[in-house]
Amino acid sequence: MKKVTILYGTETGNSELLSMDICKVGNKSGLNCVNMGMDEIDNDEFSIIENLLIVCSTWGDGEQPDNAIDLFEFVESLDECDLQYMNFSVLALGDTAFDLFCEAGKEWDRILEEKGAKRIHDRVDCDVDYEDDAEEWIETVISKLM
Ligand SMILES: Cc1cc2nc3c(=O)[nH]c(=O)nc-3n(C[C@H](O)[C@H](O)[C@H](O)COP(=O)(O)O)c2cc1C
Repeated sequence: MKKVTILYGTETGNSELLSMDICKVGNKSGLNCVNMGMDEIDNDEFSIIENLLIVCSTWGDGEQPDNAIDLFEFVESLDECDLQYMNFSVLALGDTAFDLFCEAGKEWDRILEEKGAKRIHDRVDCDVDYEDDAEEWIETVISKLM
């Protein structure tokens, strides 16, 4: 079974709930999905992920949520080809009322590509009513991973 790692960056739990949904849908579809907070994976484990789905909200003024900061800094420190064996897609949560809409998710999308990972599906940026956009993204990424 293909292993898929879902990492969430969250302050108030929306991204965590979505990552649980992704896990459920993925496992039902025959994938071997695991989900965890971005602060629950160590750097060595992260570096060898083959299939990564990121769900990340934006906080403060366009900033990473607290539980995402250390992992993001680690990824920033990697060399250009270090993630060449990784496939990824990003679901970004935010609020269009903020100037830096979904900035944290956009940063993940950019940094993973910069470090050599291959985008399997375009990032989707979700406003506060994220359910429909998230559901569409989940269906598409899971079908691409199957
Ligand atoms: C204090 C605060 C700051 C926020 N800053 C931003 C922001 O800069 N950009 C953005 O797009 N959304 C921003 N948001 C919206 C959150 O990203 C959005 O509510 C998201 O669904 C929260 O998901 P989470 O529960 O996984 O953290 C902010 C929300 C709060 C309460």
